[in-house]
Amino acid sequence: QTYAAILPAAGIGSRMQAAVPKQYLPLAGKTVIEHSLSKLLQHPAISQVVVVLAENDRWFRQLEVAKHPKISLALGGAERCDSVLSGLHAIKKADWVLVHDAARPCLAHSDIELLIKHIEQHHQGVILGAQVRDTMKRSDANGNILNTVDRDGLWHALTPQAFPVQQLRHALQSALMQGVNITDEASAIEFSGEACSILPGRSDNLKVTRPEDMAMAERFLTQSLS
Ligand code: C5P
Repeated sequence: QTYAAILPAAGIGSRMQAAVPKQYLPLAGKTVIEHSLSKLLQHPAISQVVVVLAENDRWFRQLEVAKHPKISLALGGAERCDSVLSGLHAIKKADWVLVHDAARPCLAHSDIELLIKHIEQHHQGVILGAQVRDTMKRSDANGNILNTVDRDGLWHALTPQAFPVQQLRHALQSALMQGVNITDEASAIEFSGEACSILPGRSDNLKVTRPEDMAMAERFLTQSLS
């Protein structure tokens, strides 16, 4: 099997309240996006990494990593799924694609291995997840609790998410055409009725969304280096 990766990085990250998009914030001596890319670029089975950028991106090309021979660039779209579709069009030759958030800088080599091993054995889409540990509540818009949701079988969906290239392309195109709300790649696959597994990934693979996430990511990255 042959593998490529897509890193959608065309979001504006308004929740971080920073002057630059969150993927370019400094983190443990590099930028967030350089950390998110590093394990994908280092993996010998991944031959190409497509970075999807916003039209007005002024930052990525200034980074040293932009010259890496495995990297290709693609132009992002209005929604994340438009950006991923654009990235799929830039894949030269691969059976499988791993889609990874630019805002997840703590990806470990072992989590990529977990996905690839599963694909080699089962030949179907697979994503990383984290089983829900807290008690889950549903509330109304005013914060009044309506009920407790059974957490049995509930997961947080993480990335990378890995699928056959053609299967993901078709699933995203038909979801877009039918106006389905797609928040990750797996939701498009589910919508198309294809099988997909979820595997427990590492708990340090967090998404930096709020300012306080940066401090936690910094700790994870410096710990794993020492
Ligand atoms: O905003 P959020 O954290 O959900 O974004 C997840 C990932 O999708 C980020 O890496 C972001 O840059 C990317 N994205 C994109 N194109 C968009 C919206 C988000 O590539 N239109």
